[in-house]
Amino acid sequence: MSNDAAGFRLISTSVLAYRIVVPSSAILFVGDILKLVDHDKDFTFFAKVTDITHDTAQGEPAAGPTLAVNLHPLGLIDHDGRFRPPMTAPTNFAEVSRPDDADLEFLKQSMGDLEVGQMRAGLGILEGVTVSLPSETLSSHMGVFATTGMGKSNFMKVLCASAMRLRRFGVLMVDPHGEYVTGYRLRNQRIKGLIEYTGARDGLSVYSTRPPDERKRYGLKELRLEHDDFRMGDLGFLYELSLPLIEVVESLDSHAGSDVIDFFINEGVDSLPSPLKTTSGIGRHPEITDTLRTYALGPLHMTQRRVETVVEENRVFFHRFGSSIPSILEDLAQNKVVLIDIPGVSERGELFALSTMTRAILNAHKLRTLSDEETSHQQVLIAIEEAQRVLAEANQSTQVFRECVMEGRKFGVGLCLVTQQPKNIDPRILAQLNTYVVMGLADQQDRSIVAGNAKQNLASMNNEIQTLPRGDAVISIMGTPFPVSTRIHLFEDYLDRLDAAS
Ligand SMILES: Nc1ncnc2c1ncn2[C@@H]1O[C@H](COP(=O)(O)OP(=O)(O)OP(=O)(O)O)[C@@H](O)[C@H]1O
Ligand SMILES: [Mg+2]
Repeated sequence: MSNDAAGFRLISTSVLAYRIVVPSSAILFVGDILKLVDHDKDFTFFAKVTDITHDTAQGEPAAGPTLAVNLHPLGLIDHDGRFRPPMTAPTNFAEVSRPDDADLEFLKQSMGDLEVGQMRAGLGILEGVTVSLPSETLSSHMGVFATTGMGKSNFMKVLCASAMRLRRFGVLMVDPHGEYVTGYRLRNQRIKGLIEYTGARDGLSVYSTRPPDERKRYGLKELRLEHDDFRMGDLGFLYELSLPLIEVVESLDSHAGSDVIDFFINEGVDSLPSPLKTTSGIGRHPEITDTLRTYALGPLHMTQRRVETVVEENRVFFHRFGSSIPSILEDLAQNKVVLIDIPGVSERGELFALSTMTRAILNAHKLRTLSDEETSHQQVLIAIEEAQRVLAEANQSTQVFRECVMEGRKFGVGLCLVTQQPKNIDPRILAQLNTYVVMGLADQQDRSIVAGNAKQNLASMNNEIQTLPRGDAVISIMGTPFPVSTRIHLFEDYLDRLDAAS
């Protein structure tokens, strides 16, 4: 690969941009990294291709047609071999070539332990340069952004497989379509699921609403939530509530879920005594009765219907007693990947399960941190698909997710926001994400929102992000020298490799 940079010539440099000319036969791609060796200063600069133009302004040179290539400076290796920001520019006599994996040793050293892909070069990959996320940064949150079909789910499966192998942190992921657990068939292609990673099967724990025989066949546990896992405040984000309903809901938020559900389902608002009567509450829940008797019957009836719907819609997993949550927390504490497999459950049911579990995890971690237990360093990553549903700017009712973003880091709880519409996520939330995995984004507004909020400068990579083929990503990790163009492993191939290696 090294020879094909013959004829690459630096024609202008500034600290902020370099420009080279290359023979028009040179195979260069946006996102490629080039090395510029300045023998005078004895610095090695690295820069990324951001644009390629056919430049005829200077007339064609005798050597044949050329292309003009714009480069974005990434940094330089100083005399001590340290990587530094590009604070100076190479001279025009610097020698331009392609780096090999030895040149990128500095990059490898800043990589983490959680393998997701390989560094991209041209149409292929740079052999030997594995791209890995540092697991210790996961509780400072990440975002996975891509237009539909560009590889988000594949990325999540690769991440989970690496987590199952590594066992350094827990992952919670809700799988509403059964795609992560067992995989599926797409035309004549088999898309594999995580249970097929047999070499690390004990790093995976699946809670499922599937029928018992199917659960047995795949080794899945039964998913159960109990009435006490519910909080009245949950209605606030499961439904759009009018002001009078919000008042009712908030007045009951401190009551145990089993009590409010028993009251609404078994006693009902029609059993409430008239507000004029001075005798106080009757029935099994006098405190609830007392709280509610002053409200108008209209909002009370509507609240009751909402509670009935939550119970009815989620009856496959929502029961009076018996919750999987303690066992889920135990699995996460053992650094397992926990999948919540709820095929056929409504979107509202999915959000209900996700928020309930998120609350339980956050609370457990808070307690653990405060109690100074040995496990207090334990980390969990909670994946949220279609994250714009719960973290949009206008949506303030999803308190538990916002709380995770704002203070989860202290307690080792990180969120992984997966979305195809980053522009619909609250910018204040985006600004809190420390790891960005950006795949092909067709929409300009999505691209600029992502670039504007990333901790590393992605703006110069607009062209690259626009043209990323499926499965390729620009990954920006805090602590690495620059965003890395990555070919994410195809999950099926990665599994073959992992299984062959074990
Ligand atoms: N890293 C990759 N390498 C090769 N092929 C890939 C890669 N990632 C994804 N693909 C292919 O693209 C298809 C779609 O990917 P995937 O399901 O991950 O997209 P998605 O972003 O989750 O889409 P959606 O928004 O519809 O959920 C996969 O079935 C797979 O065949
Ligand atoms: Mg998907």
